[in-house]
Amino acid sequence: MYKIAIIEEFHKAGLRLFDQKKNFSYEVIKDVSDENLIKKLPSFDGCTLRISKLTSNILKHCKKLKVISRHGVGYNNVDLDYIKKNNITLLITNNANHISVAEHVMYMMLTISKGFLSHDRSVRDGLFNTGIKDIQTFELSDKNMLIIGFGRIGRALINKCKSFNMKVSVYDPYVDEKLINSFGGKKINRLDDAFKDSNFISLHVPLTHETKNMINMNNIKLMKSSCVIINTARGGVINENDLDEALRKNMVFGAGIDVFESEPVSSSHPFINNKKILLSPHSATWTNECKIRMAELTAQNIIDFFEKKIDKSMLVKL
Ligand SMILES: NC(=O)c1ccc[n+]([C@@H]2O[C@H](COP(=O)([O-])OP(=O)(O)OC[C@H]3O[C@@H](n4cnc5c(N)ncnc54)[C@H](O)[C@@H]3O)[C@@H](O)[C@H]2O)c1
Repeated sequence: MYKIAIIEEFHKAGLRLFDQKKNFSYEVIKDVSDENLIKKLPSFDGCTLRISKLTSNILKHCKKLKVISRHGVGYNNVDLDYIKKNNITLLITNNANHISVAEHVMYMMLTISKGFLSHDRSVRDGLFNTGIKDIQTFELSDKNMLIIGFGRIGRALINKCKSFNMKVSVYDPYVDEKLINSFGGKKINRLDDAFKDSNFISLHVPLTHETKNMINMNNIKLMKSSCVIINTARGGVINENDLDEALRKNMVFGAGIDVFESEPVSSSHPFINNKKILLSPHSATWTNECKIRMAELTAQNIIDFFEKKIDKSMLVKL
């Protein structure tokens, strides 16, 4: 019998897959404090993981643990050095969430460019004729879009931007120019030039030593004051204090932020009362379809791992 810890509940479609297997049992762990994980996790053979952190301080107690199955594709919440040294496999839900995230970026770009929620508020506040008189709105059509990181999500996004008639540049030193061109994008080799020209910038890189604070005051200074920055990748890719300051000083027009350096975000975070930012609670994948796809794939990956038939595209190479 394989014992699986479900760290943070997910859609019941995923749990159903374990229910159908006689040799798998599971327990949902809702208290994700370090103390509780240290107490609970050592008896499990595998676990699923959403946004909680699995540090070496927790993992060193988990001598039976063979596999961690991420509910998603990012994995900066797992101590990679520790799991590599201790032969723990890490799995991701490859190809389950790029559509929802790309749609979320479009939702943020459209909402910001149409004046955040001013249209809705003007009707509700009885300001039908005057409520949107002074708001700034603009079209996406013909605007310069910069996509940073051209993996699953970047590629799903470019098609949507092209259908809005945007001109798309792509910065991803690890992706071949021909591939970018085949999607209708223009490969950029120097980010600084692209920052100067862009009306919209959307980030789709993992959080690494290389991408930490990739957007900061030095390059925000190069951007147009009409530029909109969207981050659905990871908090930490943008320097949050620099972005907050730049927005308050009208150095850029607006931002859509789904991810934060520290989550859940605290009520004293400067973004909370910055009206130039459209916020969401790390929920870019939170569509009905995506929740089901991710839950099923997270569970199936664990089952396939123990049944020795895991699809290699789900394995993180450490
Ligand atoms: N908000 C959410 O709910 C949510 C959901 C899914 C993914 N994400 C985040 O989005 C990120 C992208 O997801 P994906 O599925 O497209 O990943 P992916 O691995 O398919 O693509 C990432 C791309 O980033 C590129 N890259 C790496 N370092 C770079 C750098 N320094 N400069 C430019 N490009 C660089 C890689 O070459 C790759 O093409 C994930 O790492 C994750 O952190 C967030």
